[in-house]
Amino acid sequence: MSLEGRIALVTGASSGLGAHFARALAQEGAAVAICARRGERLISLADELRSAGARAIAVAMDVADEAAIPAAFDAAERALGPIDTLINNAGMNAEGAALDLSASDFDRVLAVNLRGPFLCAREAARRMIARGEAAGRIVNIASIGALKPLPGLAAYCASKAGLVMLTKALAREWANKGVNVNALCPGYVETELNADFLATPAGDRLIASFPRRRLMCASDLDAMLLYLAGRESGAVTGGVFAIDDGQLL
Ligand SMILES: NC(=O)c1ccc[n+]([C@@H]2O[C@H](COP(=O)([O-])OP(=O)(O)OC[C@H]3O[C@@H](n4cnc5c(N)ncnc54)[C@H](OP(=O)(O)O)[C@@H]3O)[C@@H](O)[C@H]2O)c1
Repeated sequence: MSLEGRIALVTGASSGLGAHFARALAQEGAAVAICARRGERLISLADELRSAGARAIAVAMDVADEAAIPAAFDAAERALGPIDTLINNAGMNAEGAALDLSASDFDRVLAVNLRGPFLCAREAARRMIARGEAAGRIVNIASIGALKPLPGLAAYCASKAGLVMLTKALAREWANKGVNVNALCPGYVETELNADFLATPAGDRLIASFPRRRLMCASDLDAMLLYLAGRESGAVTGGVFAIDDGQLL
């Protein structure tokens, strides 16, 4: 699955899965714009990717800030050319019992995990459709939490379930406009998002409840991510793909 000639923008690329996805896309030949709020981390990842021969640019962007999004796409396109692939990966959670969840924490999770991907997808699709892109790809990184409640993550699961339905709604609307929209639902991979929780006895119990009693690796997601980002997935839109090592079973 060569991504030679493709130009991708990855949100939430300053750590965890987003940084991993940026490396995987670049390794297959895509140019990558890596976005997040922590600019220092992005600059060092962009340097690493360029040293490995890729075209890469670091762009600061807060997905909760509507005005920042077109500005970030402008900066990415000035440096790399027209974006044909968006990986909507930025995300956060708010752990704890729903009984104790504040309205502001709930709003924040929805703003980053659902409104942010909508704003980025709208910006990407406006640009792709305006220039007649034939192979536009938007990959929304949802979660198994979109499909099953995860302990202590009510707002997170609601946001990811919303992202799955948003994926289908956008896929339907843009089906004849050259833009495919799909959702990837990973199982648990240890990252900064969940490392503290996974180190607790509750984390041990969760892992013990999985059929294979283990976490996944980020690289387990590569084949599906690269397929959905590439030209080969032309007939795939509105799909929801759980890659979870059986964690939903
Ligand atoms: N790890 C898992 O087990 C797992 C499983 C299923 C789904 N996911 C999903 O995978 C995605 C990546 O998570 P991760 O596990 O890699 O967590 P992570 O290491 O904490 O990474 C989250 C990324 O999102 C960025 N981000 C957070 N708020 C942002 C904002 N307002 N604007 C722009 N970027 C923002 C962070 O960058 P800055 O702080 O620098 O902005 C960071 O790069 C998330 O959507 C998560 O829900 C993860």
